[in-house]
Order: sequence, then structure tokens, then C-alpha cells
Amino acid sequence: MNSAKHDTTGPGHTYISNPNRSGVFLWILLISSSFTLFFIFIFPFLAKPKQVMISESPLLKQSKDINSHATCDLFTGKWVREIRGPSYDNRTCPTMLESRNCEKYGKDQDFLNWRWKPHGCDLPRFDAGEFLRMVKGKTMFFVGDSLARNHVESLLCLLSQVEKPVNVYKDKEDTSNIWYFNSSNFTIKSNFIKFLVQATERTINGTKTGVFDIHMDKVDTEWANKLHKTHYIVISTSHWFFRKNYFYENGKLIGCTFCSETNLKEINFITVIKKATRTALEFIKNSTEEHHFEFKTLTLLRTYSPAHFEGGAWNDGGYCNRTRPLKAEEMMGVGDMELRNGQVEELEKVKKGEGEFGVVDVTESMMVRADGHPGKHWNDEWMKGFKDCVHWCLPGAVDVWNDMMLQVMKRFSSY
Ligand SMILES: *[C@@H]1O[C@H](CO)[C@@H](O)[C@H](O)[C@H]1NC(C)=O
Ligand SMILES: *[C@@H]1O[C@H](CO)[C@@H](O)[C@H](O)[C@H]1NC(C)=O
Ligand SMILES: *[C@@H]1O[C@H](CO)[C@@H](O)[C@H](O)[C@H]1NC(C)=O
Ligand SMILES: *[C@@H]1O[C@H](CO)[C@@H](O)[C@H](O)[C@H]1NC(C)=O
Ligand SMILES: *[C@@H]1O[C@H](CO)[C@@H](O)[C@H](O)[C@H]1NC(C)=O
Ligand SMILES: *[C@@H]1O[C@H](CO)[C@@H](O)[C@H](O)[C@H]1NC(C)=O
Repeated sequence: MNSAKHDTTGPGHTYISNPNRSGVFLWILLISSSFTLFFIFIFPFLAKPKQVMISESPLLKQSKDINSHATCDLFTGKWVREIRGPSYDNRTCPTMLESRNCEKYGKDQDFLNWRWKPHGCDLPRFDAGEFLRMVKGKTMFFVGDSLARNHVESLLCLLSQVEKPVNVYKDKEDTSNIWYFNSSNFTIKSNFIKFLVQATERTINGTKTGVFDIHMDKVDTEWANKLHKTHYIVISTSHWFFRKNYFYENGKLIGCTFCSETNLKEINFITVIKKATRTALEFIKNSTEEHHFEFKTLTLLRTYSPAHFEGGAWNDGGYCNRTRPLKAEEMMGVGDMELRNGQVEELEKVKKGEGEFGVVDVTESMMVRADGHPGKHWNDEWMKGFKDCVHWCLPGAVDVWNDMMLQVMKRFSSY
């Protein structure tokens, strides 16, 4: 089996897995462009009244009832201090990756002592037994980048407290995985997908450039062909769009992001993330309507998960060493909400008509968890000295994604 770098799942983990330095460069590009995001996009928002952006966004208000039968908005609230220990640790989670094992690499574990408290209710802690009973005989498919993978890792750790999953399939690059829970006959599939839509990396004389040609109106068949026999689909995308890329519609080049080219239109990355999300959701909806699926399918969109570099870019001394959630006045990425709002807007559109669509809206809760990333506390075999302020430690704040997801699933009663 390819033990090759279970432990290096950066957003470009297919590359860093490879003992090839150009891969590291691509990962780095991504991180640096997240930082670019901070400057070109988020920075301008810092000058504005923050509370307005956070709590008075009209779209955020809509999130209250975006999921069917919603009685309380689980996604707006605050983190409250609570010391009761995590649901698992690096000894009880057999699937823990080195790159998420922050305790082993010396991170102070006090960052675990916070609970997400929605304003109008309590969010129950993830109940692995309840979850496994609900998904008995079913399949859940995660489609997205390394943060989608991070979501799966959290779910595997939480579930393995009740039953240990078996990794029944893994491709050579570790981009496609199938996990099976025998006693509940439950399957988790995951596919590492950068853009949701078709994308080809530009190469120059056989060397990858980290720049992609992206067809916004064509769904990526890598995941789209695997949707049959899937009861739950969890999709997400964003970080790979924060870089120079070229975009096509109807086969025609229409513009680029982070490019400043004289004869080409510069497109806002939120616009393209929205379009890619729309294409993906429409494809799922169309498939549902055409009865391509053997089962009724619940599609969940997991919203944007922000990064928290401070003091510089990834390669410029950028770090994330906070030890508690950010206070309102410390917020870094208030503009993150704009991206999240765009994603939710696309989900709202597709909800009309057939098919079941919901949102696992993690953005607001994660915006303040600058203390939840590995930072310097991870295995950095390929990324010596760099801080990971993009992914999330396990156990950690990211476990709330599954607390939320279980409650959202329950709101769609037929599942
Ligand atoms: C778990 O973390 C502890 C540090 O508290 C470390 O000593 C140990 O090696 C880790 N165990 C595993 C299996 O990673
Ligand atoms: C497991 O679930 C599938 C449906 O997803 C079903 O076809 C199959 O018969 C089940 N297997 C067992 C052993 O129950
Ligand atoms: C899987 O579960 C079935 C019953 O659902 C049982 O008969 C079988 O022995 C189990 N297999 C393993 C490998 O645990
Ligand atoms: C590609 O390789 C050819 C032959 O080695 C060389 O002449 C050319 O300049 C290279 N192109 C680029 C863009 O590096
Ligand atoms: C979905 O179906 C509509 C109506 O038939 C069509 O216009 C659209 O292109 C389809 N979208 C995708 C992504 O398949
Ligand atoms: C975080 O790191 C910066 C830069 O190394 C340092 O100035 C600061 O004191 C650190 N903060 C904490 C809480 O450790």
C-alpha cells in the first residue's frame, strides 16, 4: 500500500505527496494566494463597521430557514467556554493524520475548551451512535478540496468511537477513498476535487504551472460520474480559486482571476466560485429530475472555511498562534461572509423545485477560530518551517461541522 504521505494533505496534497519540490511550490502558491485574499479582499473591509457585516447581512438572516423544518439557526452564535474534553483524541482515532495531530506536535490543548452556542438554541454534540443508525445501509459522498478531506477526517474520528471504519479503497494519489462501516453497512466516499467544474492545469514544456483553464459551465466528470447510489452528497469549493486561473464559458475564454492582463477581463473570484457551485448544484438537480439516481439524494453545501494567516504571507513569516477565538474587534476576515453569502445564494436558487438541498454553514463559526489551525504544530516533512493556517487540528473546532451536519440531516426527515 502506498503509505506515501498520508500526512501531507495540503490543498495541493496530490503534489506534496510527491517527493518533488515543484509540488511544494504549488501548495505554497495556494497558501500565498489565500493571503492575497486577505489583502485584496478582506483588508478593505477592516475599515468598515464590523458588526454590520457580521450580523446584519440580509443573506445571513435568510440562513435561518434555508434548511427545511429549521427551528433555530444553528449557524449564527458564539463560542462559549466549556471544559469537558473532546470526543476523541490521537489515541482513540486510528485514522488521525500526522498533519492534523496537533497535540503530538505540541499544540496547547486548551483551544478545545470551547463550545459553539447558536443564539437561539443549543447545538447537540455529535452522537456517533445516532448518526450511524440514521445512515444505515447508505452512502455519503464528499466532494471538494483538502478542507472537504478535513471534514471527512473529523467524521471518521468521531464515528470510530463507536465503530472503526475500514479503508476499503484508496487510489494511488490518495485523492479518492472509500471507507466502510460494516455493522451499519455505511459507506463514506471522498474525492479530492479542486473546482467542481472541469479544469486542466497549464503545463510549460511538461512542467505544471499551478495555473488552470477552467470551464465554468461543465461539471467535473471525475465526481459527477460517481453520484449514482449516493444518498448524501456533501460539496464544497473555494481555496483553489484564490489564484491566477483562466475561465471559459461555452468553450470561450471570458476572463481570468488575479491576472491583470491587458486584453482579458479580470473576474472577481466570488463570481467564479458562485458559477462553479451553480453548475455543480444544477447538475445534481438535473440528475435527480431525470431519475438518474436510484435513491433520493440529500445534497449539502458546506460553506467557505476561512484561513487565518497573520503577520505575513505563508513564506513571509505568516503564522497563526492565537490561543483563543477572536473577539469581534479582532476579526480578520469579515469579507469572508461575502463569499459565504454567494454560496448560500446559489443554494437558494437550486432549492426551488425537485431535490433536497441543504447547507452546512460553517463560515461564521470558523471565522473566529484563528486558534484552531495546526500553525507550526504539524508534521512538516515537505513544508519545513511553514505554518498551516488553512486546515484544522483534530480534535478541534472543525468537529463542529459534523455537529451541524447531523442536525441538518435530521431536518430532512425522510433521510
Ligand atoms: C498523542 O499525543 C501525545 C502528546 O500528548 C503524544 O505523546 C503521542 O505520541 C500522540 N500519540 C499518537 C498516537 O499520535
Ligand atoms: C448494504 O446497503 C446496500 C444499500 O446501500 C444494500 O444494497 C445491501 O444489501 C446492504 N448490505 C447488507 C449486508 O445489509
Ligand atoms: C459484517 O457484518 C455482518 C452482519 O451485518 C457480519 O455477518 C460480518 O461478519 C461482518 N464482517 C466483518 C468483517 O466484521
Ligand atoms: C520549451 O523547450 C524548448 C526546447 O527545449 C525551448 O526552446 C523553449 O524556450 C521552452 N519554452 C518555455 C516556455 O520554456
Ligand atoms: C440542467 O438542466 C437545464 C434545463 O434542462 C439546462 O439548461 C442546464 O444546462 C443543465 N445544467 C447542467 C449543469 O447540467
Ligand atoms: C505569535 O507569534 C508572533 C510572531 O512570532 C509573536 O510576536 C507573538 O508574541 C506570538 N503570540 C503568541 C500568543 O504566542
